[in-house]
Amino acid sequence: MKPTLGTEKVLDETVQGTTLTLSENSKNTRKLYIESYGCAMNFSDSEIVASILEKEGFNTTQELAEADLVLVNTCSIREKAELTVRKRLEKFNAVKKINPKMKVGVLGCMAERLKDKFLDEEKIVDMVVGPDAYKDLPHLIQEIDEGRNAVNVILSKDETYGDVAPVRLNTNGVNAFVSITRGCDNMCTFCVVPFTRGRERSRNPQSIIEEINDLWDKGFREITLLGQNVDSYLWYGGGLKKDFEKASEIQKATSVNFSKLLELCALAQPKMRIRFSTSNPQDMTLDVIETMAQYENICNYIHLPVQSGSNRILKAMNRLHTREEYFELIDNIRKLIPDCSISQDMISGFPTETEEDHQDTLSLMEYVKYDYGFMFAYSERPGTMAARKLDDDVPEDVKKRRLAEVIALQRKHGHYRTQQHVGKTQEILIEGTSKKSDAHWMGRNSQNTVAVFPKEHYKKGDFVMVKINDCTSATLIGEAVAYSKNN
Ligand code: SAH
Ligand code: F3S
Repeated sequence: MKPTLGTEKVLDETVQGTTLTLSENSKNTRKLYIESYGCAMNFSDSEIVASILEKEGFNTTQELAEADLVLVNTCSIREKAELTVRKRLEKFNAVKKINPKMKVGVLGCMAERLKDKFLDEEKIVDMVVGPDAYKDLPHLIQEIDEGRNAVNVILSKDETYGDVAPVRLNTNGVNAFVSITRGCDNMCTFCVVPFTRGRERSRNPQSIIEEINDLWDKGFREITLLGQNVDSYLWYGGGLKKDFEKASEIQKATSVNFSKLLELCALAQPKMRIRFSTSNPQDMTLDVIETMAQYENICNYIHLPVQSGSNRILKAMNRLHTREEYFELIDNIRKLIPDCSISQDMISGFPTETEEDHQDTLSLMEYVKYDYGFMFAYSERPGTMAARKLDDDVPEDVKKRRLAEVIALQRKHGHYRTQQHVGKTQEILIEGTSKKSDAHWMGRNSQNTVAVFPKEHYKKGDFVMVKINDCTSATLIGEAVAYSKNN
């Protein structure tokens, strides 16, 4: 079952396994094939990796057979994600038989989780590199060139790659990701991310602003600030979030939190659309919502994963808020930003989940009526607190049935929310040609809902006011009436 219904790109299933390429540097002689899986952070990291390797003499290719180096940026979030990667490694193995010079490296979360076990389990892998070790790639590649296996899975206290200008891979030239934090300190009991991506640290706001200014100059018109838990952003001169207590008075007084960062971004480029993902409800404070309400270029959309509607399950997941506190947050969002869209992540079948807990999830959804949702069956991940302390005791068929009910309800709410836009005239940022018709543009409104409309004289990257006349379950259909004042 396809787990995504929304139009949000942060967990876009359609891009899974995409090969990334960039324009050729004529001096480079070696060929890199890089494939990415998982969250937006992995896709963003692959851009950093390609940038580092471009300076090492590599051009990217989409032809596996001609590659000197094959890199696969992996995801560990659910078992299925890991199985997909193992299948790809089998394919690489077949190609390696034809081209024995080809080297294979595993990057990302699976590399971090399995470390050098990878070299034993998957004989074809030459190199294993964790998410904080990409700057070591030139040295690691030298090792494998000389015939040795290479592993670096050291997690860092301060690596944010703030000083590596990412090359933009497979870009539409309009939207870009800008990473602002790495790692996560939340320790949700089901989640492998704190183990694979390490402790939380924030990137220097100045380098974030410089990247945004540069993107604007290159014609980009919308950025998404990325992090596992963006609302927890805290810059006080570098270092781990957990060490903030030890910072000096000056560092504390001049620190930058997430709402301040949002404001800095909004002011730096007043016409650039700004999105962010992901927000953990326990870390989202009122000042963030107030800043969103204050600046028009911060989009009215919040991805606010809740995982479950049951207080007992939320506690077992170590999500540090109750259902009631979540409702309070939703009420505050609706009060300050009445037309804000909200999306969820939900897990069905967490250990000990009863029918009553499941009903609590459905009733929570009924209260919020999310615009979009990303819904998953619980998948036990080795090493997590849930795996160590709790039996994966909800039978597979029960998990599947509950998930199907959650998905069906989300579909209903998604459709309801889409319909609310009909009759309005909204600003749409054009991202490209509609997949279904060459004569139509495709773009999004501030709420992140996709809209299509006849092209006329408008072009990609334009902000256009579009009268919404009709909709399908997730797409708005309209006609342009004028340029937006932001154009
Ligand atoms: N940092 C984000 C997202 C983490 S991973 C957050 O705060 O929520 C993206 C989503 O994958 C999670 O929100 C969760 O819904 C899902 N997920 C994580 N671990 C999972 C597991 N073990 N089984 C099923 N789904 C999982
Ligand atoms: Fe995972 Fe929870 Fe962090 S879902 S990424 S541990 S906020």
